[in-house]
Amino acid sequence: MFVARNALRLSGRNGLTSGRIAIRNATAVRTLATYSTLLDVTREIKLDHDNVRDLFARFGRATDQKEKTLIANTLIREMFVHSDAEEVSVYNVYARLGLDDTVQHNKEDHAEIKQLLWQVEHNATDVENYDSILGNAVNVFLAHAAEEENVQHPKIRERLDVEQNDQIARTFIKARNSIPTHAYPLAPQTGGPLQKAMGIHGRVQEKMAKGAHSREYVDLKFEHPEV
Ligand SMILES: [Fe+2]
Ligand SMILES: [Fe+2]
Repeated sequence: MFVARNALRLSGRNGLTSGRIAIRNATAVRTLATYSTLLDVTREIKLDHDNVRDLFARFGRATDQKEKTLIANTLIREMFVHSDAEEVSVYNVYARLGLDDTVQHNKEDHAEIKQLLWQVEHNATDVENYDSILGNAVNVFLAHAAEEENVQHPKIRERLDVEQNDQIARTFIKARNSIPTHAYPLAPQTGGPLQKAMGIHGRVQEKMAKGAHSREYVDLKFEHPEV
């Protein structure tokens, strides 16, 4: 902001009187414009966490059974996709950032979350204790998310330069987009849809044949930029 204000102020004051300063200021503004398009991986990850928070609040408010089912579908999809996308993108740079022990810890958390989601998947939304089964999975996910945001993300922002951060943010979003959502929740608690989709095509096709594609979802509140 400081740079922007000064670049614009200098440009306005000198733009008509000094060609050299005007060129320098134009470069500064261009640099700033480029900078403003850089992404922050911690922001993109938090965006997913916030969507889960929002979806869970909507699930709690919903009274219509069909709406609850659609929100639950979306919650499950988002938690699976987010976890797998992290594992194949941002966690790969944790070792470089001195967070290698954290990778194993995070993957164990993800394994627990996927196991809980697997239980959710095997219960109909109209069973008596469905809300508490789903709520348990969401609460474990959100506790893990809070640890990422409060403990790990400040270190990521501190230890990555802006270009590296931007590159990993784009890798994370691309990973999200490439995960075949019809593949979950076939994946059991280890690995994940992306990894499993590479090796269990037969099971995926079997599930697809049973109509997994007919799932319906609700819209997400927050969206990632296009990359
Ligand atoms: Fe995670
Ligand atoms: Fe996360």
